[in-house]
Amino acid sequence: MLPRAGNLGATSRSRLGFVPKAPPQRLAIGGREGERKGIGLKSLLYASASALAPGDEQAEVERIVSTARARNADLGVTGTLVFTRTRFAQILEGADGVVDALMARIARDPRHEQVTVVDAIPIDRRMFDDWTLSYSGGSRYVDKHIAPLLDGGGSGGGDARQLRRLMQALADAS
Ligand SMILES: Cc1cc2nc3c(=O)[nH]c(=O)nc-3n(C[C@H](O)[C@H](O)[C@H](O)COP(=O)(O)O)c2cc1C
Repeated sequence: MLPRAGNLGATSRSRLGFVPKAPPQRLAIGGREGERKGIGLKSLLYASASALAPGDEQAEVERIVSTARARNADLGVTGTLVFTRTRFAQILEGADGVVDALMARIARDPRHEQVTVVDAIPIDRRMFDDWTLSYSGGSRYVDKHIAPLLDGGGSGGGDARQLRRLMQALADAS
């Protein structure tokens, strides 16, 4: 069962003021111009282990977020990123090829390792209006949903669906 989204939102906001939700960019996202509903859109979920040096995480995650917001807006990519101090999980939504190319670039980034694509599903519509970061520093609850997907001990699709629901709740609450 998910914790109440409001509680998660309060936690993420109070722990870190540095990751406010991006201002709405719905109309400004160049890469989404001409996007026809449901044509070639996908949603990709991956998980990874953080390789950030302890004590340096906040500044580094800020850098990741500011790069991602600018680039993803240009690419027409929406989604959400969760960081738990030890692991990341990110959902990327956008045109098929664009998401794949971005994923390849992200996977090469030395700031994380064990980058594991959990699933990639065709979608009719986006679940995220813009690009958000939900920070759940130290949250064992969130971490416990990411860990099995990385360690290979999960039960496949069910775990992925649960993590997707949790990430949606975190994004809605932020
Ligand atoms: C966990 C994590 C998530 C990232 N998410 C994105 C993202 O959504 N969009 C993006 O452009 N870069 C993202 N990056 C940064 C990219 O890996 C890369 O550094 C950036 O796109 C610049 O690429 P370049 O050096 O090839 O120009 C992320 C990095 C990490 C470690």
